[in-house]
Amino acid sequence: MECRTYDECACAEGRAELPSGKIERQKKMEFNILTLFPEMFSAVNTSMVGRAVSNGLVSLNVLNIRDFSTDRRKNAADAPFGGGQGMLMMPQPLFDALESVDAQEKRVLYMSPRGKVMDQELITDLAKEDELVLVCGHYEGIDQRVLDHFRCEEVSIGDYVLTGGELPAMVLIDAVARLIPGVLGSRESALDESVYSGLLEYPQYTQPHNYRGMEVPEVLRSGDHERIRLWKFEQSLRLTRDRRPDLLEAFLKSHKDLTKRERKIVDAVLAE
Ligand code: ADE
Repeated sequence: MECRTYDECACAEGRAELPSGKIERQKKMEFNILTLFPEMFSAVNTSMVGRAVSNGLVSLNVLNIRDFSTDRRKNAADAPFGGGQGMLMMPQPLFDALESVDAQEKRVLYMSPRGKVMDQELITDLAKEDELVLVCGHYEGIDQRVLDHFRCEEVSIGDYVLTGGELPAMVLIDAVARLIPGVLGSRESALDESVYSGLLEYPQYTQPHNYRGMEVPEVLRSGDHERIRLWKFEQSLRLTRDRRPDLLEAFLKSHKDLTKRERKIVDAVLAE
């Protein structure tokens, strides 16, 4: 199981509430992907998402933008008007590719470093759709008329610049797919709105309990579920305080209803 937050782990253990935005239906999610490098998407056909594709929970419709070019040489890019560096992806192949998947009627995302930075809230929102269209740019980007006409939402995966939108699109697909019921096994449940949502995940240990003299914390082997729960909570709080004080602040603001014991732990961690 790979969960970032205390909360996701709590959910995986079956203790957490169902998220309010949970997806009720067993549904199939279709990703239409427009790219100049379709072969890159073979990577998402492996692992969990690959299994979801085989199980019919996710479908990937990968279109090569170049196939839609009416240009004799199948060109898809040209120099920008007004000067500037590099090449821009031309409107014609993109318009035709987008129209071929009825993108006017759908939520279209353009992967771009100038977009809204992706977070779990956006991913949860995207997971409610039945279908998404992802446009992967290359070179210096794409003609603005494409973005305007198809009302593209620009989405970034972080404040750094990659050579194209394919890897960001794969990140998005992976993050959205794991929220679709049935994609993760019950042991890897991805519910993420328990009482502790928004804290970083506590440290975890597996067998053996003593490895090269390094012991697993005693509490985790105590069998005392409440003590274990509070220990995990405390560890999550400490990590979040040290690594992501912004998340801790948001957590404390939105969790005024902690139990007495939890409150005591919060006060102690803040006072350390
Ligand atoms: N394309 C290039 N860099 C990107 C980024 N950081 N996020 C999304 N798309 C991109």
